[in-house]
Order: sequence, then C-alpha cells, then structure tokens
Amino acid sequence: MKNVRIGILTGGGDCAGLNSAIKWVVRSALDPRMEAEHNVKFEIFGILEGWKGLLFADPATPECQQYVIPLDNMTVEPWDRNGGTNLGTSRTNPYNPKNNQSEIVLSNIKKYGLDVVLAIGGEDTLSVAARLSLDGIKVIGIPKTIDKDLAETEYSLGFETAVNVIVEEIDRLRTTASSHSRVFVVEIMGRTAGWLALEGGELAGADIILIPEYDFDIKKVNEIVMEKRKTGQRYQIIAVAEGAKPAGGSQITSDSSIDSFGHIRLGGIAEWVAKEISNGTGIETRSVVLSHLQRGGIPCAYDRRMGRYFGIAAVDLIIKGDFGRMVALKDGHITSVPIKNILGKLSLVDIEKQYDRERYNGRRHLLLYEKSVDIPG
Ligand code: F6P
Repeated sequence: MKNVRIGILTGGGDCAGLNSAIKWVVRSALDPRMEAEHNVKFEIFGILEGWKGLLFADPATPECQQYVIPLDNMTVEPWDRNGGTNLGTSRTNPYNPKNNQSEIVLSNIKKYGLDVVLAIGGEDTLSVAARLSLDGIKVIGIPKTIDKDLAETEYSLGFETAVNVIVEEIDRLRTTASSHSRVFVVEIMGRTAGWLALEGGELAGADIILIPEYDFDIKKVNEIVMEKRKTGQRYQIIAVAEGAKPAGGSQITSDSSIDSFGHIRLGGIAEWVAKEISNGTGIETRSVVLSHLQRGGIPCAYDRRMGRYFGIAAVDLIIKGDFGRMVALKDGHITSVPIKNILGKLSLVDIEKQYDRERYNGRRHLLLYEKSVDIPG
C-alpha cells in the first residue's frame, strides 16, 4: 500500500469555486474505494494562506499548527456551497527576486513529508508551482482567476460567478439610471484581459464596453452616447475594465503599491471616463466600482461543477503519477497540460474575432469574420 500526503493551498485573489475544488480533491482522494482500487492511501492537509503557509509549515515550529490543518470528508462536506476560500489566501511569492524564500518552502515541504503540493491559483500562484516542480517537487495545479486570463485553459474557477454578479449589479443600476436619465460607467475587474468586462457587459446589455486589449477614443465614446440618446434611449450603461485606457494615455492606478508578483493596483478608470462623458456631452454621468463584490458571494452552479470536475481530475493525475501538470478545460473537455506551459502567457480577448471596434461592444457575428460576403442563392 502506497501512502501519499497531499498539501493543498489556494493563492492569489479569492473567488467562488475554490472550496468546491478543495472539497472534491478531499472527497475523491479519501473515497473509501480508493485503497482497494488503487492500492493507495491518501492523507490531505490544508495549507493556510497560500504560499505564505508553506513558509511556516515547519512541524518543529508552533506556527505550523496554525498553517497546516488535516482535511477529512466531514470537514469539507458543505464547502462547495461556500464562497471565498476556507483555507485563506495570500499574494506571497517565495521566489520574489527581492526576497527569495524558496529554500524555506522546499525544506518545509520535505520536513512535513508532503509528497504532492496541489496549488489552486492564477498565473502568479501557478508560476510558483511551476518553479517548485523544476526544483523537484511533485505539483499539480488547478486554474482559478475571475479574470479568466490564464493560458492553456478555457475556464478558470470564479469567472462565471463574477459574471453573474456583474449582470445582477448592472440590472440594479438600470432602474436608477433610467429614473434619472443618467449615464452610468461601471468599473469591472480585469487588469490585462477584458473577459469580465466583455462577457459581463454583453450579458448585462451594456451600451459600450471598454477593455484593456483595445485603447479607446473618448470622443468616440461620447459620440456613441449621443447617438443612443438621439434614438430616445433614456440612459446608457458603460462597462469598463480596470485595465482599459484611452489611446495615448496610460492605465489608472489607485495607489503606487506593488505586490510581491510585481503588480500595481489599478482603479479609477470609471471615474475618469464618467468625468469625460459629463464634460463632453453635458449628460449627468455617475461611476460605480464593482470591485471585490465580483469575487464575493456563493458560487454559481457552473463554478460548483467546475470545482468538482477540476478537483476530481487533480486526484486522477496524482493517482496516475502525472505531476507538473495543471488540470484544464480544452475544447469543452477536462484534460491537463504541463504547468510550465502557462508561464509568461495570458489568454486575452481576440480583438479581430471577439470585439467590435466600431461599436465598442461585443461582436454581432460569431461565425463570419470577412467584411463582405455574397449571400448565396
Ligand atoms: O487577479 C484578479 C483580480 O481580481 C484583478 O482583476 C484585480 O486587479 C485584483 O484581483 C485585485 O486584487 P486585490 O485587491 O485582492 O489584491
């Protein structure tokens, strides 16, 4: 009988669906049939607060108890209904070039006797997993990020719940926007990728969608607003990604702090756009920042489903001994990819195929890309 100790952690920004993935890692690994069918006995430990927890996972220190907890079937049973992450999270980067603490992490993994480290995270968290894999640790990754910008997978946990929040909040804004005949500019998360603004904006029926992948012309934004007003539309909703910027301008930051992965905090573009619209059109315009509401709340059905499938697939990889991989959704199927393949790449909106540069909105063709096509018959 093979004994396997798994340490599981969540890193980076929290989101819905993380607890579902943790639950299904635990439920699959501790399935009573596992021993009989695969001759393996798993033990699972939750590492609290992401990679930070592994800096304190030395069993010889008192902190260890606070950062490493055993997980069993009973504990995780209701977790798929819980938002956020019950393991806590951090943006700690043990490979931070300014303070490289990877040796401590490597040594604690060994001291704690972890055979496998299972990391649930976005590009930052999984890049650490990839580095650990190169340093000889058996790692498995599960993708999560509401920004949906992770390469090599069509889905990352948290995205659909965030889209639901965006749609719900914009639906709420409509009544007040209409009553006062105002323009509302809604700031949506997405530093580099505009998926949330684009899909959230499309599904909420936003009049204009501004994304980081395409620099906008504020004069054109004002023209579109005025055109819509002329048709009798009482109010307009503009969805803007936090990373969007005007042509020739730069991204707006909320402060100058930089996290251990080198990211600056963005914020303020909605307010900027709102002022420009108000000055340029004379229409009363307000801005709303959805901010962390997008990461909050209970997971939608899709995130529970994908958390479940990703969690189960992660345990399958461990049973097969297929390490250094991230579970992924590709062509609609659950599969896995080498975790190193995600490094240095992001999945961005394809401006040619997914964005209408004339209307500043989603495309009205999905199967047709040529400008003019002769209609047959
Ligand atoms: O990385 C995901 C994300 O949601 C970004 O879109 C956003 O910029 C960031 O998290 C904000 O994170 P926090 O304020 O929690 O550091």
